[in-house]
Amino acid sequence: MGGAAADDRALIERFRAARRDPALAVLEGFHALKHALRFGAEVACALARDPEAVAALGSRLAPDVAPRLRELVRAIPAEGFARLAPRPPATGVIALAHRPPVDLGAVLRTTTAAPLVLLERPTHHGNLGAVVRVAAAAGAQAVLTTGPHDPWDPAALRGSAGLHFALPVGPIEALPATGRPLLAFDPAGEPLAPGAIPPGAILAFGSERQGLGEALLAHATRRLAIPMADGVSSLNLASAVAIALYTWRLGCLRDPR
Ligand SMILES: C[S@@+](CC[C@H](N)C(=O)[O-])C[C@H]1O[C@@H](n2cnc3c(N)ncnc32)[C@H](O)[C@@H]1O
Repeated sequence: MGGAAADDRALIERFRAARRDPALAVLEGFHALKHALRFGAEVACALARDPEAVAALGSRLAPDVAPRLRELVRAIPAEGFARLAPRPPATGVIALAHRPPVDLGAVLRTTTAAPLVLLERPTHHGNLGAVVRVAAAAGAQAVLTTGPHDPWDPAALRGSAGLHFALPVGPIEALPATGRPLLAFDPAGEPLAPGAIPPGAILAFGSERQGLGEALLAHATRRLAIPMADGVSSLNLASAVAIALYTWRLGCLRDPR
């Protein structure tokens, strides 16, 4: 009895420490764990109040990863589970995975047809996660960020539903010279139109409050504005990224290059 309680305390401490560990990703909830497994995450520990319920959810919603879920997820009593995260996920499962090693310099040097998303100093982890989610859906090359906010923060992983594992995501100090077209998304730019995003482009977006900095704007190949109705100052960051990426993607589908 005492042994089980001590084990649970050790697990609670392990999950608490993981939230600050730059080598680990905290996956809160079924969908985050499902996507992480689907895109090859190496899961270190997965706990649930009721592993059978998680396995049933897996069989119903994600048969491709259901056997892995069954293998990985271990039980922890409800009181222990409630202490594994500040807001324990409603789906009753939480996991730790190793962040995949990525050479972000190599990503920047590798021009693919798909655009790369650069977020300059984003401040809201929920926005960051929503950007990663739409970037994965649209087939973007990568999501890179500058500034002090960790793009792998547990709140960002919640926002992406674990899709950080679907494409390279990581922080860079600053954008180096790459020779790739650099498109700055700025409400004061020229109107975005179908076909405006060339292959291999870097799409840059500014922070929620300040927008893009002068240094990046000065290096931009073009500044593009998403048209808005009179009186609207700007779009939410993740909405702006979604519109830009789908302008590119729908253009490709119509006009495959
Ligand atoms: C909330 S907005 C920042 C608003 C900031 N006050 C400004 O004027 O840029 C966050 C980012 O989303 C992008 N964005 C938002 N609305 C946009 C629009 N209509 N056209 C182009 N980019 C937009 C820009 O990259 C912007 O830096």
